[in-house]
Amino acid sequence: MRRKIVAGNWKMNGDSAFIAKIIPALENVAVADGNAIVIAPPYPYLLSVSQAIGSNRLSLAAQDVAYTENGAFTGAVSASMLADVGCSYCIVGHSERRALFGETDAYVALKIDRLHEVGIVPIVCVGETLEQRESGLTLSVVEQQVRLAVGHLSADMLSRVVLAYEPVWAIGTGKTASPQDAQEVHAHIRGVLASIAGDVAERISILYGGSVKSSNASELFSQKDVDGGLIGGASLDASDFSRICSLLS
Ligand code: PGA
Repeated sequence: MRRKIVAGNWKMNGDSAFIAKIIPALENVAVADGNAIVIAPPYPYLLSVSQAIGSNRLSLAAQDVAYTENGAFTGAVSASMLADVGCSYCIVGHSERRALFGETDAYVALKIDRLHEVGIVPIVCVGETLEQRESGLTLSVVEQQVRLAVGHLSADMLSRVVLAYEPVWAIGTGKTASPQDAQEVHAHIRGVLASIAGDVAERISILYGGSVKSSNASELFSQKDVDGGLIGGASLDASDFSRICSLLS
């Protein structure tokens, strides 16, 4: 059985009051053994969320990480710092980082290596733009992103990666890939992972992201190769996010 994961990406949102509200709400959600609820607050809140979730079943993620180790890199946050404050996951290659902050596939690959050095599981985001989809390039674009991000990893290291398929045109737009379209891309990603690492691909969780809400999550997550979701906007609504997380029971 593959691990099912619901990860909430708060982006540049949230504050101490929101943390005080959402953590108790999520603590009440029943989750089957092996599955995981992950929350990714902004950097300043990682430590307080880490302390608030204590040893319970919630897991902590960062939204990004530096591609270098500690040193003179003003404004950057290293993988070892994330491990130190209790992160067990970290998002890398989010389309907003790629489009707004110049994140390249090469940086994504380096960040994955830094995270693996400290035992943090990268959540690697890939996805096509609307223009690429309309030009019939979806599968090839996504395949190239996957190969450039994780193609250098051994099967053992690849087993410690989570993929997230997030069509750029679906992020924050209210438009969601149909469950069938999502399944098609997820199956293709799994095939690419199998070509890199063989049977290990069957154990790798591939999340769907892009306007997931409690009203559409169940159908998306029931697709054969969709192992949960990476949730932006709906992760800021404690009751909607709790309902999505309850699909992990
Ligand atoms: P959204 O964001 O759920 O608001 O579309 C998803 C994401 O960017 O991870």
